[in-house]
Amino acid sequence: MKFQMKKIITLLFIAALSILLSACGSGQETNSSTAESDNVTNEQNETTEAAVESEEPESSTEQAVVQESAIEETTEATTETTEAGSNTLVVYFSNTGNTRAIAESIANGLSADIYEIIAEEPYTEADLDYGDDNSRSTQEMNDPSARPAISGSVEYMEQYDTVYIGYPIWWGEAPRILDTFVESYDFTDKTVIPFCTSASSGVGSSASGLASLAGTGNWLEGQRFSGSESAEEVMEWVNGL
Ligand SMILES: Cc1cc2nc3c(=O)[nH]c(=O)nc-3n(C[C@H](O)[C@H](O)[C@H](O)COP(=O)(O)O)c2cc1C
Repeated sequence: MKFQMKKIITLLFIAALSILLSACGSGQETNSSTAESDNVTNEQNETTEAAVESEEPESSTEQAVVQESAIEETTEATTETTEAGSNTLVVYFSNTGNTRAIAESIANGLSADIYEIIAEEPYTEADLDYGDDNSRSTQEMNDPSARPAISGSVEYMEQYDTVYIGYPIWWGEAPRILDTFVESYDFTDKTVIPFCTSASSGVGSSASGLASLAGTGNWLEGQRFSGSESAEEVMEWVNGL
C-alpha cells in the first residue's frame, strides 16, 4: 500500500514536471514569436524609413522639377522683360545681330528693360535672301498687308513711358513684323523712339510709316545706325535726345 502511494506520488510528480516543462517550452515559443514580430516591426520600420528615404530624393526631384519649371517661367518672362520696374523699354527685331547690338547698348546704358520681337515662325537664311523674288522676306515686303505673327508679348506695356523700337531696314522700310508689333499696343502718353540698322539706306519713311500704323504715341524722328557703332556712340545719341 505504502509502495503504491509512493508510485502514485512519483507519477503525479512526473506528470506535474512534464506539464511544467511543456509550459516552459510553449513560453519560449511565445517569446520567439514575439521576437519574430519585433523583427517584422523593425523590418516594417526599416521599410518605412527606406520608403521615407526614397521618398526624400523623389520629393527633391519633384522640387527640382518645380524649380526648373519656375526657372523656365522666369526665363520666359526674363526673355521678354527684364528689370521689371523700369519706365523705359527697348524693343528690337534682329536676325543677324546688328540691331540687337544697338538695342543692348541702349538698354545697358539706360538700365532699361529689353524685349526682342521674335517671329512665331523664325526667319531662315533662305527667308532673308533679298536676291530671291520668292523668298519670304521679299514676298512680305511686296505685300503691305502682311502681318507676320509674333511669339509672346510685352508684359506690362502700361508701365513704360518711353519705348525705343529698333529694326533692320528691309527694302527701304521696316520689316512687316514691326507693323504687327506697333498695331498690337496702345502708345498713348508714350514717347516712341525708332532706330534702325542698314547696309547703307537711311531711315527713310520707315519710322513715320510705323508711327501712322500705330496711330498713338509721341513718335520722335528715327535714327539709322550701321550696326558697328560703339556703346559710347550709341549713348551719345541717346543722351542728346
Ligand atoms: C530682306 C532684306 C532686305 C534688306 N534691304 C535693305 C535695304 O533696302 N537697304 C539697306 O541698306 N540694307 C538692307 N538690308 C540689310 C539690312 O538692313 C542690314 O544688314 C541690317 O543691319 C540687318 O539687321 P539685323 O542684323 O539686326 O538683322 C536688307 C536685309 C534684308 C535681310
